[in-house]
Amino acid sequence: MTRTVLTLLGGSRTVPTGDHLGRLHDAIDESDFAWTLCLIGEDQSHKLAVLAGDLGRRKSSTGEGKQITSGFAYWGIAPTIAWAHACTDPFYPVMQQSLESFALRWAHVRAQLADTPFHYVSLGVGTGHKDRSILQDLLGANPDLLYSPVDLSAEMLRFGMRESLKGIDVARRQVVPVQLDFAVDANLVEYRRLLHKMVGDEPILYSLLGNTMANFDEDIDLLGKLTWLLRPQDRFLLEVATTSSLEESLADHAAEEYRSSRAYKEFVTSALQHYTDVTIDMDSVHFRGSVEDERALQVKVIYQNSTGAVQRIMLPDRNIVRFDDGDTIRLYLTRKYANTAVDDMLQTVGMTKLLSTHSGFASHRSPGGFGIDLLLLSAGRERSVPAQRSTRADEIWSSFNR
Ligand SMILES: C[S@@+](CC[C@H](N)C(=O)[O-])C[C@H]1O[C@@H](n2cnc3c(N)ncnc32)[C@H](O)[C@@H]1O
Repeated sequence: MTRTVLTLLGGSRTVPTGDHLGRLHDAIDESDFAWTLCLIGEDQSHKLAVLAGDLGRRKSSTGEGKQITSGFAYWGIAPTIAWAHACTDPFYPVMQQSLESFALRWAHVRAQLADTPFHYVSLGVGTGHKDRSILQDLLGANPDLLYSPVDLSAEMLRFGMRESLKGIDVARRQVVPVQLDFAVDANLVEYRRLLHKMVGDEPILYSLLGNTMANFDEDIDLLGKLTWLLRPQDRFLLEVATTSSLEESLADHAAEEYRSSRAYKEFVTSALQHYTDVTIDMDSVHFRGSVEDERALQVKVIYQNSTGAVQRIMLPDRNIVRFDDGDTIRLYLTRKYANTAVDDMLQTVGMTKLLSTHSGFASHRSPGGFGIDLLLLSAGRERSVPAQRSTRADEIWSSFNR
């Protein structure tokens, strides 16, 4: 086979002439133009149809009907920019403190990983700040690591990677961004296959940070699916918001953390503005706190028609739906978990807790007892759960091995 020698900044490499992708990588590495090579796994038109379907749901005055589910809230360039703004707003302390205190929590965890040469998969990259802390350390033990950020939003991927790779000594061929909905079983099966082709038996550190799990209606189910990705040599970093108590009065305090931020309101209404013709009225955005099944404080952000008249909303597929007076669109869902609930969830999905760190959140609006936990996990049901329980991960595994 004919070979071409490409000279790179760090030296030279022999690339087979027919290896167009390899040559493309090299050309990108040599260029200072901001290329992003991204693997698109989602059919965008199908996603748009899902969003339109969710916005056409039944009438509800409590946010149980029409909704924008997790992932779609960040989908597209306008929501991505709005999210980045909200993360730096001092009036939205949840995310700001989560970002600022992350390095400290991660410092405790990384000691546990010792010098194991992990690859790194970031599920939901966001602004990319946390990935940068993690990459800096993992590269020490594995300079050739593969970094694969996964996100439903291609714009978020590009935005987040700009931050996560800032000042990081990693070739672009080591970075494989993947645009994918990680809540879909079939996507996980394909992604897992792809990953294992790339890294073989070498260990992977996965992360689901920023309390992302709490945004899903079926949060335990999601964690179960992600558990299925793990082999014994892999590890999983999970970051969740926690509360020391589930008193009813605390639920409103939890809602208050979001209510006072104009930037957060702009983020949370951004997808609605982007994908429908609704003229957003910020006074129609409501934050409802409640206690969910003795396991979490739940906050729902809803948009309510309080005009006294029926509105007609054009959906992204050009269909028109009635938005009756009093009807709602749920814009966002989040939770703060009771500590025992976190342990119960891990048991249910078959994860073993290897280490956990906690940061308490102090704020003039917070009553105390709120915080954020970073957990290092492995898949290891046999050590933590009675053998008779079948987990969600087991179900997915068996359905794809039939
Ligand atoms: C709360 S942010 C957390 C960002 C980051 N991990 C952090 O801690 O700062 C959630 C991220 O997950 C992504 N996301 C949410 N649901 C998703 C889904 N179903 N599939 C893929 N990405 C999703 C969002 O686009 C966003 O980047």
